[in-house]
Amino acid sequence: MTDIAALQSEILAQVSAATDEAALDAVRVGTLGKKGSVSALLATMGKLSPDERKVQGPLFNGLRDTITEAIAARKVQLADAALDARLAGETLDVTLPARAENSGSIHPISQVLDEVVAIFAELGFGVAEGPDVEFDDYNFTRLNIPPDHPARQMQDTFYVAPQADGTSHVLRTHTSPVQVRTMLNTKPPIRIISLGRTYRVDSDATHSPMFHQVEALVVDKGIHLGHLKWTVEQFCKAFFEIDQIELRARPSFFPFTEPSLEWDMRCDRSVPGKITFGTGNDWLELGGSGMVHRKVLENCGIDASQYSGFAFGFGLDRMAMLKYGMPDIRSFFESDLRWLKHYGFQPLDIPTLDGGLSR
Ligand code: PHE
Repeated sequence: MTDIAALQSEILAQVSAATDEAALDAVRVGTLGKKGSVSALLATMGKLSPDERKVQGPLFNGLRDTITEAIAARKVQLADAALDARLAGETLDVTLPARAENSGSIHPISQVLDEVVAIFAELGFGVAEGPDVEFDDYNFTRLNIPPDHPARQMQDTFYVAPQADGTSHVLRTHTSPVQVRTMLNTKPPIRIISLGRTYRVDSDATHSPMFHQVEALVVDKGIHLGHLKWTVEQFCKAFFEIDQIELRARPSFFPFTEPSLEWDMRCDRSVPGKITFGTGNDWLELGGSGMVHRKVLENCGIDASQYSGFAFGFGLDRMAMLKYGMPDIRSFFESDLRWLKHYGFQPLDIPTLDGGLSR
């Protein structure tokens, strides 16, 4: 009896010492297997006398059952532990920061176009549009630049192959042909801006073969240079978001305006890489303007004895470069994502005439 009790506790110790399924199986084979210690004990039953068997039989069977149960229980325990270990090892680390979404941004030119439209909308201007591939007639002839006139050489033009119907086209060299389109289609009073792409054969750090202009045109009775000056001033103050600006008008020449003026804005460029407006001894060129030439009014069906008008055309890329501090115009159109990420805009911040930003 003591033998059986000792054997049982020894085997139970082995069972609980088994730390994986293989070790547990070795215990099972060593005890309950064909040649196992418990099986050997059970095999001796046949040799016992009936009386001895009555006493020993239940003890042997009890030993076998206890061991069988212990092994089964340990097996479940080991399987649970193995599962726990696996689960612990495979845990998803939900604290990892998510990968940032690659969101786009607003190109500085688009931003500036929106700003300009918002500013002129407050002044009561509508937006007129025209095509990039323009009739030579609208780009030049009706603007008082007849064929073979030397003034055509002021603008290095991309010519388009002549059309079958005899019309000739160019990539518009300025936004002024939209003046022609508007005057042909609408009766005064006219108060529009036209903005978009323009093209000239030119390329360096401050010239790109494709660039952007904003054109303003006002035609009504009694329009004079004072209106032009006031409008240019309002626009510059709102665009650059400063109240203190000083403008200078220089006499100039454009075939489509008379008189013609070019506008400069006072600025300080004495600190390298920095530009301040309103002070300093330097002047920044904004663009051309003037009173619409009476020949142009007449070319577009407007009675020049009744109506007068002013127009100006400013370079938007250069204005954007100055406002947002970009050194090279060509980078606007290179589609370099690093540049776009750096200079791109997220929300639409649009200046108002009060010199503040609206959202
Ligand atoms: N179209 C002219 C240019 O591009 C600018 C301009 C516009 C001048 C309107 C006068 C009036 O050079």
